[in-house]
Amino acid sequence: MKGGSRLTGEVEIPGAKNSVLKLMAASLLAPGRTTLSAVPDILDVGVMANVLTALGASVRWDVAGGTLTIDAPEVPGAAADPGLVRRIRASVAILGPLVARRGEARVALPGGDAIGSRALDLHIAGLRRLGAVIDVEDGALVARTSGRLQGASIWLDFPSVGATENLLMAGVLAKGTTVIDNAAREPEIADLCHLLIEMGARIDGVGGSTLVIEGVDELRPVSHRTVPDRIVAGTYAIGTVMTQGDVLLRGARAEHLGIVLEKLTAAGATVDVGADGFRVSADDRPRSVDVVTLPYPGFPTDLLPQVIALEAVSQGISLITENVFDSRFVFCRELLRLGAQLRTDGHHVVVRESPRLVGAPVVASDVRAGAGLVLAGLVAEGTTEVHDVHHIDRGYAGFVENLRALGADIRRERGSAAA
Ligand code: UD1
Repeated sequence: MKGGSRLTGEVEIPGAKNSVLKLMAASLLAPGRTTLSAVPDILDVGVMANVLTALGASVRWDVAGGTLTIDAPEVPGAAADPGLVRRIRASVAILGPLVARRGEARVALPGGDAIGSRALDLHIAGLRRLGAVIDVEDGALVARTSGRLQGASIWLDFPSVGATENLLMAGVLAKGTTVIDNAAREPEIADLCHLLIEMGARIDGVGGSTLVIEGVDELRPVSHRTVPDRIVAGTYAIGTVMTQGDVLLRGARAEHLGIVLEKLTAAGATVDVGADGFRVSADDRPRSVDVVTLPYPGFPTDLLPQVIALEAVSQGISLITENVFDSRFVFCRELLRLGAQLRTDGHHVVVRESPRLVGAPVVASDVRAGAGLVLAGLVAEGTTEVHDVHHIDRGYAGFVENLRALGADIRRERGSAAA
């Protein structure tokens, strides 16, 4: 890509990757046909569809229409395909539904982005509280229960997104009351709660940090629309500010991006919230802002590389602190190749104003790092080549096409891994 163009126009925000993958897992909780809409055309949805198919579901994906129909079997398989599970971490979300429905689940220790140690201890401790017996056998987590899971009170040491989701999906079919305290509060968890409630689950405290679940005997399949992707919206919003552009993010929910939009405003951008999305514009070079990532409603870790790229072209010095993952700064090494002035120290990075970024070949190490590098390439002088863009395909539908429609000089090398 060649830097220097302003992003202007409109972009449609699709359903959230981090929601739809869990909604798909939740379909295993009820035999019959679940229909999900606003499903993004991303690689991880295809992988998750294969995970479900291998468990006996039949899955039909109308990619153009953004609809996924999952026909879940009366008795799903217990063992998820290890090859598929290693490709996406979200596949661990089938653990809760399978142990609740089948009394047994075997899930290979999952893969996903290389952004930290990403332990599963909170998932395991919580499922044990609900009465499951959990072992590691041949590199797989095996959860078993002899009868129905039993409701219990669970305090999470940290508001883990994945653990909250797994325990919710186990708790809805457990006997009695399950309380999840210090639960994660991400909008994608509220979306999962809404799906489960539509299916017949009884959940109180949706959107809060204490979830109270009254177990029911069975759930029914329903149709559900996926919540819009706040990380995709945030990525385009940050790119707009970096390029001093003007973009309407159609379908995006400003209320899910409170602190992000506040930071962009502090950087000098204007944000206008409308009935169907919001518009971001900027006339001048942004001013630097400090950012601290935290579980929702804090600044999302999934926008960390993008905001570091923003700071690299902002006036002033900023201090960025990452509190959720332990190795997200791998991205900084690539940004240095483009001429960014930054220094990492533990979980902090200091970003100094650089006179300009200059295009170079760089490598995406994960989905968000890839997006951050593309944003940096949009403002770097000359040509930037981002390699290994298959990572970006995991979470951004039509990224290159959308950016081109907004005016960016970007193309994807045919059949390759570069943009
Ligand atoms: C989800 C998102 C990911 C996002 C993250 C935090 C999906 C598919 N992925 O990941 O994009 O960056 O939330 O918003 O939805 N941890 C433990 N023990 C556990 C579980 C987690 O120590 O049992 C730690 C992890 O190592 C990590 C932190 O808690 O450092 C956050 O993890 P978690 O909130 O569980 O994130 P994920 O569900 O993996």
